[in-house]
Amino acid sequence: MTDKSKLQVKTVEELKKQPEEYQVACAKLVVSHAINELYGARAFDEPAVALAPHPYAKWLTCRVAMEEYGHHVRFFELGREMGIADDKMIPEKTSKRPLSIFDFPLKTWEEFVAIKLLADLAEILQVEDLLHCTFHPLRNLARMTMPEERFHAQFGLDFGAELVKTPEGKKTLQQAVNKVFPTMLAFFGGAKSKNNEIFRNWGIKLRTNEEMRADYINRAREAAGKIGLTLPDVATAAA
Ligand SMILES: [Fe+2]
Ligand SMILES: [Fe+2]
Repeated sequence: MTDKSKLQVKTVEELKKQPEEYQVACAKLVVSHAINELYGARAFDEPAVALAPHPYAKWLTCRVAMEEYGHHVRFFELGREMGIADDKMIPEKTSKRPLSIFDFPLKTWEEFVAIKLLADLAEILQVEDLLHCTFHPLRNLARMTMPEERFHAQFGLDFGAELVKTPEGKKTLQQAVNKVFPTMLAFFGGAKSKNNEIFRNWGIKLRTNEEMRADYINRAREAAGKIGLTLPDVATAAA
């Protein structure tokens, strides 16, 4: 641990007095969360309401969509407070590419269930890594969104358990897992990432991208195993 990682920045006002590298690093994380939460809500959660097979599933999917839009709004508002321009936090207005996972062309309910099971688990890992962030407004947002991300991953498990009750449902969900999982590995960023090194030096994040990816693969395997599913071979290759 360096001295930098013992820093505690309690407010946005205090952030403005920190070295530029720290301010830029915090802004990068806020922007990336704001963009990706909005992109995800639009690409997956809102369209999934129409795919949900019965009223109970639609109700809970609406709740998930509401919460994902809510995550965007919270990160967006923090970004504004930090002086980040609105356009940088809206996917169609920024040149920053959203994560590759969002290129997945969602067509079925089973695919959505696989996305909640796997992608929201990945989000839980990302949010966990911010729980002790030296920039407290970001830490507080992570603590606020965490129970909701847990609910989303549990949603994937619960509706997954419903689907695997029939051989056809299990087969279709396994196929969806096989398609979604490989897109998740890039979610954790490159190995030896410069950004990640800066985040860790300043105590903004705790773990390396490689550590997070390896932990994710184990936890994703465990989650899939709970409902009798497996991960495709790419998981073994990447571990
Ligand atoms: Fe979210
Ligand atoms: Fe989520």
